[in-house]
Amino acid sequence: MQVIQSIEQIRQLVRQWRQLEKTIGFVPTMGNLHQGHLSLVEEAQKCADKVIVSIFVNPTQFAPGEDFTSYPRTLQEDQEKLENAQVDVLFVPDREEIYFPDESTRINVSGLSEQYCGASRTGHFSGVATVVCKLLNIVQPDSAVFGQKDFQQLRVIQRMVRDLNIPVKIKSMPTFRGLDGLAMSSRNSYLTPEQKATAPELYQALLDAKEAILACRQGYPEIEHQQISRLRCSGFDPEYFVICRSLDLHSAKSDDTDLVILTAAKLGKTRLIDNIEFIKKI
Ligand code: PAF
Repeated sequence: MQVIQSIEQIRQLVRQWRQLEKTIGFVPTMGNLHQGHLSLVEEAQKCADKVIVSIFVNPTQFAPGEDFTSYPRTLQEDQEKLENAQVDVLFVPDREEIYFPDESTRINVSGLSEQYCGASRTGHFSGVATVVCKLLNIVQPDSAVFGQKDFQQLRVIQRMVRDLNIPVKIKSMPTFRGLDGLAMSSRNSYLTPEQKATAPELYQALLDAKEAILACRQGYPEIEHQQISRLRCSGFDPEYFVICRSLDLHSAKSDDTDLVILTAAKLGKTRLIDNIEFIKKI
């Protein structure tokens, strides 16, 4: 596996691959890789001849006071995992390679970015959209793979790619879960052993809400309130628990069929997010 830090070198390599008519798959990450990330790599390998993974802890997507400096950085271990997964190139640019000191352009995917995670994490999705757009411009892959765990992020990226006519196919992979149901996340490493035992309740709340929806037991606002209270009783500090239309993340009505339930809740200082997407037949 080649490890590359400069945009110029990535471009040169991509040019060579293009001359050989190779297709390119891309997996952007912030490192601290787990099985969820490796499932994105596998998917990228299925659909492309060459795969590039990037590791860049993107400062612009952390809101003031968030964990940018303490975000787990585990380059050595990540590199080993990617070598074992037979990734072709690891792209690890530093901050100066990605952002000009006087850079003044930001991408804002309005409508999809303000609610839910965007409401509490000021500027987060603009930072995500900007860095993903830049990385796609640098790598110019045929396809790029993202996890469905960050569901709102996935929708923001899909909308940006569509609106800006970026020539890339966006693919997504299901959330990778532990046996207890807890969604894999780099931030799980912040949890204490007791919090780790409580954390799977978040997924259980999503499963119970899905069941209530499919059984048409209650109205959506009632289901949302019930699960928020339940999370509070279990020791979470819930931020939101919302039943949405999967495509545009608008609040769902009873005759909508393609649904996603999105939730974010704090457990101690750790903010967890999760979601469940499903079809309701009517
Ligand atoms: O999901 C992530 O790890 C990040 O938000 C991403 C897409 C790599 C952009 O920094």
